[in-house]
Amino acid sequence: MSWVITGGAGYIGAHVIRAMAKEGIPVVVLDDLSTGDPDRLPAGVTLVTGSTLDRELLDRVMAEHEVEGVLHIAAKKQVGESVEQPLRYYRENVEGLRVVLEAAAAAGVRRFLLSSSAAVYGMPDVETVTEDTPCAPMSPYGETKLVGEWLVKATGRAHNMGTVSLRYFNVAGAATPELSDPGVFNLVPMVFERLTSGRAPLVFGADYPTADGTCVRDYIHVADVADAHVAAVRRLRDRPDDTELVLNIGRGVGVSVREMLDVIGRVTGLDATGEVVARRAGDPARVVASADLIAKELGWTADYDVDEMIASAWAGWQLRHPSAES
Ligand code: WQD
Repeated sequence: MSWVITGGAGYIGAHVIRAMAKEGIPVVVLDDLSTGDPDRLPAGVTLVTGSTLDRELLDRVMAEHEVEGVLHIAAKKQVGESVEQPLRYYRENVEGLRVVLEAAAAAGVRRFLLSSSAAVYGMPDVETVTEDTPCAPMSPYGETKLVGEWLVKATGRAHNMGTVSLRYFNVAGAATPELSDPGVFNLVPMVFERLTSGRAPLVFGADYPTADGTCVRDYIHVADVADAHVAAVRRLRDRPDDTELVLNIGRGVGVSVREMLDVIGRVTGLDATGEVVARRAGDPARVVASADLIAKELGWTADYDVDEMIASAWAGWQLRHPSAES
């Protein structure tokens, strides 16, 4: 029995594949390689190149492999881009998910895991975000993740599937330099890019109601995120009939932008003093997870700290940018 992993050649997906292999769980990867890289996949992993929108392809994959469950990671994930291209984001993230769910239900698949996001919360005005915190997404990206959770829940109930949606908080780091995130769309790689081009990192606002005035986030190592997926797979394997979960994946520890810059400066040996500029629209002051429910339901807790996230991300950055000196 195999697990189909959509988006398995992506930054998160490749780490999940690695964790599933360590657990000895056979996988089949479906990826359109729009951002995925087949070189990220271990030798011997079956890669089907194609779109989650292609129902015939999905039916073929389900027919050719005894599918025990599906991990749906494939999605577009840039908040800013989703504001400019909502129709593309709803097509890829909602219609793509719908087609995968439809093919899985038709094939009698009993277990489904969705990659969701803390972006579903929008601007939560709480110290820590629990899964009961009201969801008010601020971007089409966040909306597609929330709609996706509703779709997964409804399909699970109608088609006898156990379901888990995992809400990633701020993911960083890499299990190996080769698996690092090549995208420069989030704080850590954006700071690296500034530093290695001789410019000061930008701090988007220092007048927030936080201890040092900069935004606070819950950073989580991608290897921890991958292990959380394996913990969810174990639960779905054991209890498909009484599993309908939506779980935060975070450390429950808030780290500010300025604190992240301090760590980056320490790890890289570069002067990471930030240049404060205007706030970025839509940024909440604080988004920090309560990770109590995932610990209770799956027995999962994060292992890695921020220093390990930054050190591994920096090693990946240097691999991809050989001129980057420490
Ligand atoms: C983090 C903090 C910025 C760059 C995103 C999206 C979504 C989700 C989580 C997947 C913010 C500040 C950033 C810079 C800065 N991922 N910043 N200078 O916006 O918290 O959430 O990641 O689901 O992609 O919701 O992440 O890394 O963009 O920003 O000051 O050069 O760093 O203002 O406060 P964000 P981010």
